[in-house]
Amino acid sequence: MSTIPAVHLGLDLGFGDVKIVADFECGEANHRQKVLRKFPTAVAYAKDGIIGNLGGDSGKTYSFNGRKYVVGASALQFRDVFSTRDINFLIHFSPLLAFAAVEGLAQEGSMGPEILQPGKKSVCLGVPLAYFHSRRSSLVEAVRACHVSGASLDFTNVEVRAQGQGILFDFMFDEDGEAIEERLNMNILIVDIGFNTVDILGVVNGRSSREWSGMIERGGISRICQQVGDYLQREFSFDLPEQSLKDVITKREITLYGAKKDVSEVIRKAQEEYSDWLMQEVRSRWDGFLQKADRMIIAGGGAYYVRDDFAEKYPKDFLYVPEKPEYSNAMGFYKYLEAKKHAEQDVQEDHDPAVQS
Ligand SMILES: Nc1ncnc2c1ncn2[C@@H]1O[C@H](COP(=O)(O)OP(=O)(O)OP(=O)(O)O)[C@@H](O)[C@H]1O
Ligand SMILES: [Mg+2]
Repeated sequence: MSTIPAVHLGLDLGFGDVKIVADFECGEANHRQKVLRKFPTAVAYAKDGIIGNLGGDSGKTYSFNGRKYVVGASALQFRDVFSTRDINFLIHFSPLLAFAAVEGLAQEGSMGPEILQPGKKSVCLGVPLAYFHSRRSSLVEAVRACHVSGASLDFTNVEVRAQGQGILFDFMFDEDGEAIEERLNMNILIVDIGFNTVDILGVVNGRSSREWSGMIERGGISRICQQVGDYLQREFSFDLPEQSLKDVITKREITLYGAKKDVSEVIRKAQEEYSDWLMQEVRSRWDGFLQKADRMIIAGGGAYYVRDDFAEKYPKDFLYVPEKPEYSNAMGFYKYLEAKKHAEQDVQEDHDPAVQS
């Protein structure tokens, strides 16, 4: 007999990539397993015909709101892949992206198809800080029941936190969602460097401060992509969409007429200029806060590109970069659900006469 597992999902619907961190308990053996997974935040209308007939992988299609879509890496092949720069895009497609993320866990075999069946599933996801108050409830409503391809993915609990807050939870809680005492009451500046935006969260005595938080719009890694894209256009008349440029800056090479071309030097330069620019932006707006802060945390996938330069400028113990920084928000959202579960258990035990006697 298979038991339907209780699942906690940390979901970060970034403008660049969807990241998911999940864990489930197999009732009897008390076995727990954690899975990290991501795919590009890309959605395109599915097209019947030529591409499908070629036998190539044109991707799985999903029916959503009366239309058929392709999601993730395979959507990048389509010319009319939707713009991912818009909060309305993210909210509208959040049920589809959440469904694809959870289904991916089942398909990978890491969790098994029972994850899609009704059961106790909780999800915590993030919204950019700037939209937290205005769009939080729309996102909760959108994700509560994801109806896709005739299936329904229902969550018993949907939590929405601000992006960047996930990074704080990731820092404050250990792997099992237990609080790390000495990290609870710190003053921290969190710099979440994403593809599109840089979200900055000021944390005073362990609590997010609206006054010290802000966003550098269009300040993310897309700036490096743009510079590299301009170079490829100028030198080779090679026009690549932004999502593909993301791949180029990760792999540091492109294939042009079948030949591999090393572009690491161009990327290194773009990366250096970007680090200098970002450090200057942060310093000019948050130096007053930083002087009194206990830590600066650099996270989001952008951390890979700036951490060495930041490490040169700030003391070693002051700067903290989480492991796999691109997953830090999703990991923190997951830990937040775990921490809530512990807190609820503690409250239950406090009221349990068997425990009190
Ligand atoms: N493992 C990695 N190695 C190298 N680069 C990476 C890695 N992971 C992410 N990146 C780069 O960092 C960028 C930002 O990643 P991240 O996942 O934090 O963005 P996002 O959350 O989708 O964007 P936003 O926060 O703007 O919504 C990616 O677009 C990619 O270029
Ligand atoms: Mg992000």
